[in-house]
Amino acid sequence: MDKLVNAAQQAQQRALAPYSKFHVGAALETAAGKIYTGCNIESSSYGLTCCAERVAMFKALSEGEREFKRLAVAAETEEFCTPCGACRQVLWDYGQNLEIICVNKHGAQHALPLRDLLPEAFDEHFLKQG
Ligand code: THU
Repeated sequence: MDKLVNAAQQAQQRALAPYSKFHVGAALETAAGKIYTGCNIESSSYGLTCCAERVAMFKALSEGEREFKRLAVAAETEEFCTPCGACRQVLWDYGQNLEIICVNKHGAQHALPLRDLLPEAFDEHFLKQG
């Protein structure tokens, strides 16, 4: 099995989701092939919850990583669960060429480019025009 998918599934086991009980794992691969994982971490103040994808991205960025290739997202769903809107924006800000690999509860995979998940995205190029 793909090492990245396996890492996302392992991270899913570490989800802290006592409120939603929806466990998500993510694994982000850098251009050099290093893998950073994340799981969703919920807060008793629900809005402070952070999704698995952003945990993985923030971990990698905070370690100095800047170039990313693929992100696998594992959820316990029948359908392929895609990253939420907030995560799509953050992923776009730091990894416009990312391939997103969605993994369902059976381990089946569906890959698509991040740009297909966030068409006509907002990003820093607009800020430069303001
Ligand atoms: N969640 C993620 O971690 N990633 C997603 O792509 C969708 C949602 C988390 C946030 C929250 O802890 C739970 O799943 C339910 O929304």
